[in-house]
Amino acid sequence: MNGRVLHVVGTRPNFVKAAPVVAALRAAGCDQVLVHTGQHYDERMSDIFFRQLGLPRPDTDLGVGSGSQARQTAELLIALEGELIARDPALVIVYGDVNSTLAAALVAAKLGIPLAHVEAGLRSFDMAMPEEVNRRLVDQLAELLFATSPEAIGHLAREGVPADRIHLVGNPMIDTLLTHVDRFDPAAARTSHALPERYGVVTLHRPANVDDPEAVRAAVHALTEAARLIDLAVPLHPRGRAALGAAGLADAPGIHILDPLGYVEFMSLVRGAAAVITDSGGVQEETTVLNVPCLTLRTTTERPVTVTHGTNRLVAPTELVPALRKILDTTTHPPTEGPPLWDGHAGPRIARTITRWLDHHG
Ligand code: UD1
Ligand code: UDP
Repeated sequence: MNGRVLHVVGTRPNFVKAAPVVAALRAAGCDQVLVHTGQHYDERMSDIFFRQLGLPRPDTDLGVGSGSQARQTAELLIALEGELIARDPALVIVYGDVNSTLAAALVAAKLGIPLAHVEAGLRSFDMAMPEEVNRRLVDQLAELLFATSPEAIGHLAREGVPADRIHLVGNPMIDTLLTHVDRFDPAAARTSHALPERYGVVTLHRPANVDDPEAVRAAVHALTEAARLIDLAVPLHPRGRAALGAAGLADAPGIHILDPLGYVEFMSLVRGAAAVITDSGGVQEETTVLNVPCLTLRTTTERPVTVTHGTNRLVAPTELVPALRKILDTTTHPPTEGPPLWDGHAGPRIARTITRWLDHHG
């Protein structure tokens, strides 16, 4: 196998998706470099994931940090250009749909370095989401596109991506879940957060829910009402913290506001939850595999298999309480079929394709 691969990660979901790919490429004897852009930088948004998921320490942390969409992307472009020139990889690997993903893809393309995209082809068809812009552009630039679910193949074909670039490999985020599932201890997590036996978990961080004051009011009202049915643990992403707090979320009886949790603590709470309310991409997938009912406070999802093959349902704030009541009134939730290939082996499938590609192109 010839040539070095360079992974670019920057945010919490990137770490969860990259861990099994890095591990599988390490097992295959691949020369790897791990670059952290520093888009997420708090201990609880970054370092804790490296420790818990067995990710190697990044070879570089570019320390880019926060900013407006344009400023953050511009800083990422500049920092990544220097890094990619210095490291001279045969292939750059990017994950998901965050600004670090787009910036790395653009820099690689301009430097003529081939690109692999893990989690290619997901589409919400909502261009108001920064992630949808990022996904569409990255998929145009990638030479190896790793899809987590079958509908991605149709989306990419319609956008003109040649079929031989697309590889349906399953979901590396689920590899991580299945690797660590024995460490998820709901009873311990519940006790350490003083939660009753029956509780729900809430995460909210999408701009559409937490940046717009009207949307924040609607979400806080719905969650306050939901907390009359069941206690809600709310590990808050820094993005929503101020706005949701100012709208009175922390004052509602039954709402337990928490700092962002490490992966094992978070998944422990999710595993034991009677229901999850979220706008996260990853959490829709994780609840599907854990068979925990999930209510997604969004009008669209780029992960429709979590609805058709899983536990997910999209709800408006006004629909939240009746939907939650229905879940709580149902005594058993039979296991769902689960999406194809979400079996814990996506990392090795990706590694096989990459090592084969390196043999021919590296
Ligand atoms: C980013 C991704 C989003 C993903 C989310 C995962 C983009 C466009 N968005 O959103 O798709 O779902 O990560 O969590 O890339 N902040 C901190 N500490 C940190 C990181 C962020 O306090 O360690 C605060 C800062 O005030 C910052 C805000 O959170 O301005 C938003 O961070 P940013 O990385 O720009 O976007 P996210 O909302 O985290
Ligand atoms: N997560 C975590 N602690 C938390 C919230 C989330 O460990 O307090 C994990 C969880 O595995 C989730 C992943 O981080 O799937 C990504 O979360 P996030 O919702 O931030 O990003 P998205 O998937 O929406 O891009």
